Amino acid sequence: MKFFIDTANLDQIREAQDLGVLDGVTTNPSLMAKEGITGRDNILQHYVDICNIVDGDVSAEVIATDYEGMVSEGEELAALHSQIVVKLPMIKDGIKAAKYFSDKGTKTNVTLVFSAGQALLAAKAGATYVSPFIGRLDDISTDGLHLIGEIRHIYDNYGFETEILAASVRHTMHVIDCAKIGADVMTGPLSSIEGLLKHPLTDIGLAKFLEDYKKGN
Ligand code: G3P
Repeated sequence: MKFFIDTANLDQIREAQDLGVLDGVTTNPSLMAKEGITGRDNILQHYVDICNIVDGDVSAEVIATDYEGMVSEGEELAALHSQIVVKLPMIKDGIKAAKYFSDKGTKTNVTLVFSAGQALLAAKAGATYVSPFIGRLDDISTDGLHLIGEIRHIYDNYGFETEILAASVRHTMHVIDCAKIGADVMTGPLSSIEGLLKHPLTDIGLAKFLEDYKKGN
């Protein structure tokens, strides 16, 4: 299972990279705005800065919502760095753009996916990643993890190579449940990765080992 961090915060990206378990980064316009990154040039530079910190794929989202606009913006994003994955919204023109980029070998991430049917279309278009938003489904009393299971089942039925990128992950149990179901990737905040470290018996056990060592030395 790949671990992506879902942020545009460079310090958090560095921290996750330093832990040695980071496989990539996802961003979106809201995450960029949260970090105060505004203006086209600054946003493009920020993507390059992120690519220079991590080794893996970095999703960069288009703002255009029409096919021609998405293609031209996606080309510009893809040209920034070899690690860039063009992130496209799950709308009709987004699917057409995913097919365009897939045909020319450019990686894509189809985002804002909330149903199995949308995920099936994204796979048919040859998307590299599909991003079902599990937390936002949970927010409206719908089982986000159930959707991950449905997509896994459909993709396995036909051998689709599109990777299931569980997005809108909010906490460690989302990560563990996605791993059980077989999501290929999860993207979440740093806390959802670092939270996996924690167990009180580990801390109690380590304190006891060190205490006993000191007694004999
Ligand atoms: O990866 C998708 C993500 O950015 C959305 O997360 O927590 O805003 O639903 P959230």
